This record gives sequence, C-alpha cells and structure tokens, in this order.
Amino acid sequence: MSPLRENLKGLFYYLSLMNPIATKVKNVFADEFSLTPHLYYSPGRINLIGEHIDYNDGFVMPCAIDKGVYYAIALNNTDEINFHSIDFNDTLSIRIKDVKKMNGWKNYVLSVVNEFLIKGLEVKGFDCVFGGNIANGAGMSSSAAVEGGLAFSINQLFNFGFSRKELALLCQRAEHNFPGVMCGIMDQYANMFGKKDQVILLDCKSIEHEYFPLKLDNYEIVLINTKVHHNLASSEYNVRRKQCEEGLEILKKGMGINSFREVKNADDLLPYKNDMDDKVYDRCRYVVEEIARTQQAAEFLQQNNLIELGKLMYATHEGLSKLYEVSCKELDFLVEKSKENKEVIGARLMGGGFGGCTINIVQKDAVEKFTTEATESYQRKFQIDPEVYKVAVVNGTNEH
Ligand code: GLA
Repeated sequence: MSPLRENLKGLFYYLSLMNPIATKVKNVFADEFSLTPHLYYSPGRINLIGEHIDYNDGFVMPCAIDKGVYYAIALNNTDEINFHSIDFNDTLSIRIKDVKKMNGWKNYVLSVVNEFLIKGLEVKGFDCVFGGNIANGAGMSSSAAVEGGLAFSINQLFNFGFSRKELALLCQRAEHNFPGVMCGIMDQYANMFGKKDQVILLDCKSIEHEYFPLKLDNYEIVLINTKVHHNLASSEYNVRRKQCEEGLEILKKGMGINSFREVKNADDLLPYKNDMDDKVYDRCRYVVEEIARTQQAAEFLQQNNLIELGKLMYATHEGLSKLYEVSCKELDFLVEKSKENKEVIGARLMGGGFGGCTINIVQKDAVEKFTTEATESYQRKFQIDPEVYKVAVVNGTNEH
C-alpha cells in the first residue's frame, strides 16, 4: 500500500472512532450497564425510484445510507431485556416471557424479539442501548433501521444462523405484527443488503437483487425533509395496499393475470375501469405505470443517463400525488420548487408519503443555491424550517 493510501486509511479509521453517535451509544451503555457490548450500525435508506410497488410485485431501487441507528448490546445472564433509547430518552425493562405489543418505539424492538420467540428460539436476557441520526417519519425508514439492527445483533449474539434475507423477512413480519404497518420488503431488504456506492435493483416478486454502481458524476443526491408527518401515514398505507389487492382480484379474473407485472400497458386496464371503484382504478394505473418506469430507470442508470432517470422521478411524483394520493401540500410544494431550477434534474417524494423527505438529483455546483432558495421559500410558506441532508451510500447492517 502506498504511504498516501496508508495515511488515508489511518485517517478514516480515526474519523470512524470519532463518530459522535457511536461514541455516545457506547458511553451511555457504559454508564448504565457493566459488560462490554458489541456495537452495530444499521442504516436507513433512500429509494431512487419504485415507490409503493414493493408490495405490488414491482422493482425498487434503494440504497443504504449513512443515516441510521447504532446499537450497543451485551448478554446479561438474566431473563430480562433492558432497552435504552437515546433518541426518545426512555427505557424499558421487560422479562422475555412478558414480551408483548406496546406503544411507540417499544413496539418496534419488542416485535423483533417476538419474531424470534415465535420461531421457538431461546432468546436470553440482554442489555441494549440504541440511538441514531435518522429523523423519524422522514421517509428514510428509521423503523427498518431499528428493526434490522436489533435482528442482526440478536442473530449474532445467539448464533441463530439466519441469512440476511431471512432477517429482512423477519423484520418485515415484525413491522406487520406489532406496529401493524403492512409494509413491503424494500426497507428491510435495503437495510440488510446495502452496499457502498451501489444501488440495489430489487425484484420484489422473486426477492432477488442486482447491484448497479451509483455514478453521480456532476450531480448529487439531496434530501429535503418537510418536517411534517401526517397521522394518516400508516392507516392510509394499509388502505392503499388493500385497494391494490382489490384491483388485482378484478384484473386476475378479467385479464387472466396473476400480478400487476403482467400488465404490459396501463391502457390495458381501461376495459376494467367500470368494474372498479374510481380510486381503485387510479391506484392500479399508478402501479402499472410505476413498474414500467422503474424498469426504464434501471436501464437509464446502467447507461449513466441521469437526465432521463430524473424525468422519470418527476413522473413518479405526479403519479404518487394525483393517482396514488400519498403526497401532501408540503411535499408538492418542494417538488414544484425543484422544477423551477433547471439544475435539479429529478425530484419526488420518497418513501410512504404524507410527509417526510423529497429526493432530488441536483447539479453539484447548484446545490447550495437550490437548497437555500427552496428552504427559504418553504419556511415562508409553512413557517417550518426544513432540513437538508446529503447522504452517502453505505453497506448494510454490520458490526461496527
Ligand atoms: C414504506 C414501506 C415500504 C414501501 C414504501 C413505499 O417505506 O415500509 O415497504 O412500501 O413505504 O415505497
């Protein structure tokens, strides 16, 4: 290794040691518990395109990011689990046999433990401190980061031997069971399979993936957090899922298909419009269009054609806003602002919707100007200070 590379490696190692959140998690653990913990990092995710189609047999293009959750965790030789959430400044001590549904953050961690118990596995007591730098309700999947980090550490601590894919599926079931959000597999999969500087092209039907290098050249990915999270988010999420199931049943009978993926063209849905509720028709139309967009987007990404990818992102937002109806005035406002800047080549709401972030692809030298303008006008309009994040694409959950 050249001396320069050696020095850089040393510098990165030093910087990683200085990671303030990891350090805080370790320090709080040391204050509260006596044993030496293992430390894990569990990332949130972005998604370039393919929204609300993971539970509709579509393709999605997520990446794990450097915003996520750190876990410090150690076995404690008792039958009790002790959690400390730094972000919620709250604790929970519970006997393993008493694990049950609870409110708020507790539901996410207990649901993961519950999934191991359902499998008949022997989980013993442990002490656990966790905290991160990922905003809740921002559409970056803080919940999958919490679930994935805990599932991964339990799997290691108890030598259960589950694969990453099995852990992703376990975390998805955890989200279904206690929090009751009938989510798809995207977030938990990205959390487990993230790879530095690579996009995951995930086929949500076969649950198999490929990686593509994320080559942004003169562009940058910028997230803008509206800082709103409308209460509707989880209930409407489940409604969307039901509406799609209802529409698919009609198409199965009418078209003889088994999956939205088999519909070649959104206009092929027209003959079934009268058989469906108007909203159900719109949801199906969005799904078929978005599946096609994501397939095109994967080709554009491989050709390094970010301009065309960006156009598809704007079209996705339009569909999410008008047909799927999961946007809100704050998100629409930010996407409109992006359109006013020719340096922003693509923008859309990201994640489940009803608040959270927009994802924007912006020319590097225009990022400062665009984000300043967008945040100032958003502030004037909604009297809320939005947050801007630049994210790095990192590996999935791992020991730190
Ligand atoms: C949430 C869910 C995912 C996915 C997105 C929308 O993040 O957890 O499964 O459906 O919304 O694409």
